[in-house]
Amino acid sequence: MCGIFAYLGSKSSIKECLNGLKLLEYRGYDSAGIAAIKNNKLIHFKASGKIEALEKKINLKDLKLDLAIGHTRWATHGSAIEKNAHPHFDDKQNVAIVHNGIIENYDILKKLLISKNYKFRSDTDTEVIAQLISSNYKNDLVESTIKSLKELKGSFAIALIHKNHPNEIIAASRESPLAIGFNDKKTEVIISSDPNAFSGRNLNVIFLKNDEIAHIKNQEIRIINLKNKTLKKTFEKINAKNIKFSKKGFEHFMLKEIFDQPSTIQKAYLGRMTENEGLVEFEDLKLSKSFLSKIDNIIITACGTSHHAALIAKSLIEEKANILVSAEIASEMRFKTPILTKNTLVIAISQSGETADTIAAIKTAKEKGAKILSIVNVENSSLSRISDSSIFLKAGIERSVCSTKAFSSQITVLYLFAIFLSRLKSMQKKEAILLLTELKKIPSKVRKILKNTSIIEEKAKKYSKFENFFFLGRNLMYPTAMEAALKLKEISYLHASAYPAGEMKHGPLALIDSKLAIIAFSSNKKTYDKMLSSLMEARARNAKILAFATKNSYGIEDIADDVIWLDNTIDELSIFPSTIAAQLFAYFIAKIRKTDIDQPRNLAKSVTVE
Ligand code: F6R
Repeated sequence: MCGIFAYLGSKSSIKECLNGLKLLEYRGYDSAGIAAIKNNKLIHFKASGKIEALEKKINLKDLKLDLAIGHTRWATHGSAIEKNAHPHFDDKQNVAIVHNGIIENYDILKKLLISKNYKFRSDTDTEVIAQLISSNYKNDLVESTIKSLKELKGSFAIALIHKNHPNEIIAASRESPLAIGFNDKKTEVIISSDPNAFSGRNLNVIFLKNDEIAHIKNQEIRIINLKNKTLKKTFEKINAKNIKFSKKGFEHFMLKEIFDQPSTIQKAYLGRMTENEGLVEFEDLKLSKSFLSKIDNIIITACGTSHHAALIAKSLIEEKANILVSAEIASEMRFKTPILTKNTLVIAISQSGETADTIAAIKTAKEKGAKILSIVNVENSSLSRISDSSIFLKAGIERSVCSTKAFSSQITVLYLFAIFLSRLKSMQKKEAILLLTELKKIPSKVRKILKNTSIIEEKAKKYSKFENFFFLGRNLMYPTAMEAALKLKEISYLHASAYPAGEMKHGPLALIDSKLAIIAFSSNKKTYDKMLSSLMEARARNAKILAFATKNSYGIEDIADDVIWLDNTIDELSIFPSTIAAQLFAYFIAKIRKTDIDQPRNLAKSVTVE
């Protein structure tokens, strides 16, 4: 969370920073700020809220400066007000710093600095770093930074400047990603929290490892360690010149990304399956088939929407490949003792590849010798770099904080992976052919939903009057219900709880009355009759019911108040139409309720703090 963007080069640094921050805004939008050096003095601009508010405060005409550091904040320490916006400064206004991460011993350091008469202006942990560097400064900025970093506990990605060093930026990282890039002509150096801010540029890039420091002086980059020893580094080419962000005429990125899905689902399977042979192959899979065929235990770890994909994968892999799978929420897995043997595979699922909890869980498993496969959208992300192998979603950049297309791509890849593993075990060619042929039909079924969204919009209007929702499903429709409930909560700020329908009678039924809406996902043939019984029980207690059901369902229209009819498909794939229709349902409710759909309150796209 939080985005850092710094620029040193031939263009207007403040303008470049503003543009860079806009590309990173999805990482946090509580406040934003920029600092630069003008006439040997630090200058800065800060605003609470989005970059737009910051931009309004800056008159670019008077500011043709070579160097600037910028930040867009997701609040951790201190509320989302202007005084807590980054950059932060030392007492003497010599050092300006932007920071992503959490300094765990900030309180001890702050008390120590206060006892030495340092005055603090914000409630943040970041201000401590600026004060510490200033207190350790004896004309050598690199040395004072090294000395200070050794005193810090916790995680950080930082970029800092000092008024006495007008041509220098120092950047450093520990457990928090930071990339440094320069163009071929060496006229520009850019520091960014993630490669998304490199769009429109062709750069040579390095990702800092733990406790590495980049000392940038007049566009020369030196990477050093905490002993001030220069490290030999190879920069990799990232060509993002043609990457542009556009809503393509849609009102929100979320809607655009929902509509991207017929093509992104296709991209996730194209070139990876030969349906008439019943075969699946993943390019560049760096795990040997002899290892994969011996796997008897899989642990899948992820957060949020990606965790819902993990729950779906668990069912698919257990059923098809007969391998024991556990789906662990990453923030919990770290504190458990997972059983890892030489035949265990650990899979991490993440859109961003930067989720701190997922990375931490993976690191623990890796230390214990587990093989890690990541299923990730952002190539070059921290997660893909620490994994033994990665399968990329190829969904393109997802801008809306609320994940949509990444989820359907995750499901596509995991479905293929389940078939791939099953074929290494005992799945017959005939079954694989059937499963793959059905997958190929999904994009056109999704297109049908997208062609006629007015039915979903109309139901959203009716159900937007409710404040409380139960989302129910069974079997694969249960994680589908969890995902659909999360979408509604996230963007409409309404209360929505997901339950396996059979659990209702064990407690939640007590909450049912005419003020509660039930959103039922019944597209699972195996559990259809049992699902109807659960809905009958809710109906008898006056709940309002909206069902998402396949066209070949019988009897649901007699129980539910409203039905959104979806194309038939096999149980294993019914997640797709149900999820995409539910994404639209959440979108339309949020629109009616006039929330900030692409950037919902309190959230951020990349959750880079634990
Ligand atoms: C929900 C959502 C989040 C993310 C979660 C994990 O719409 O976007 O729940 O799924 O923060 O993020 P990634 O997949 O980037 O690890």
